[in-house]
Amino acid sequence: MKNILVIGSINVDYVIHTERLPKLGETLTGSDFAMNFGGKGANQAVALAKTGCNVKMLGAVGTDLSGELAINNLLSFGIDCADVMRVDAPTGAAVITVCGGDNHILLDIGANAFVTPAEIEARESLFDWADIVVMQYEIPMESVLFAARMTKKHKKLFVLNPAPVKAADAEIYRLTDIIIPNEFETQLITGISPDDEESTARAIKALRDMGCETVLITLGKRGCAYTDGDDIRYQGIYDIKVVDTTAAGDSFIGGVCKSLCDGKSMEEAVSYASAVSAITVSRKGAGVSIPTSHEVEEFLKKNA
Ligand code: RIB
Repeated sequence: MKNILVIGSINVDYVIHTERLPKLGETLTGSDFAMNFGGKGANQAVALAKTGCNVKMLGAVGTDLSGELAINNLLSFGIDCADVMRVDAPTGAAVITVCGGDNHILLDIGANAFVTPAEIEARESLFDWADIVVMQYEIPMESVLFAARMTKKHKKLFVLNPAPVKAADAEIYRLTDIIIPNEFETQLITGISPDDEESTARAIKALRDMGCETVLITLGKRGCAYTDGDDIRYQGIYDIKVVDTTAAGDSFIGGVCKSLCDGKSMEEAVSYASAVSAITVSRKGAGVSIPTSHEVEEFLKKNA
């Protein structure tokens, strides 16, 4: 089994479902409040662990109760948390409104700001251990660049989910082996909105010209576009009732990396990841909604 190092955010999500979003100054009654474990890094680690990978997490939570519960949650999936720091700051928090299945997220990264280049450098041996390093943009950007350089120094595969999207040093993209943005992130990074096959091809070319070797763009209801060598291919979505899109992208990334670790082709990896993501969006919550490998296999049998 291959080893995957996830360097990224750990949050607690405070979720309310609503029929519509409140206007400024308005108090609106929603429903189904839940406090879930989330954070893009943690969700991706959970997706990898639930589908059967060896996962270590490098991150930070506060010394508060949320931090303790978040670590226990990761441990319950068999994720190695020896490098999750407890720091003097509140654990990262996301306030999420789910409206018609789609979500809006307001984030305070809190303790995640403590995942600094110095803390990463102090754990250089993790890059020896890992086969793949997976990162997102919910920790300081200088840490993403530092870890990308460290990954390449150790000749390992660097997988980047540039979310939430923000200005980044161009070197990050030059060091990226596999980039997995959604359509919104693609548009902000390349200036091209992947609305149809022609614009998607241009956006993919732009990301490759920036240095990303393999590109997978998730396109919401339109599925996903991805490169397979020099070809561009498409994968549709499964016909399921969408309940909550939170962690759709995170679970997809987990599914792709898990399949590639298993030696699958890009086509097989994307198909598996689409099933992982389909199950995730058919349930409420972030990490809690992500399926196990057994659930994915059952789903694929029924939806072949
Ligand atoms: O991708 C979903 C995640 O984004 C949520 O779990 C929330 O914590 C935010 O980080």
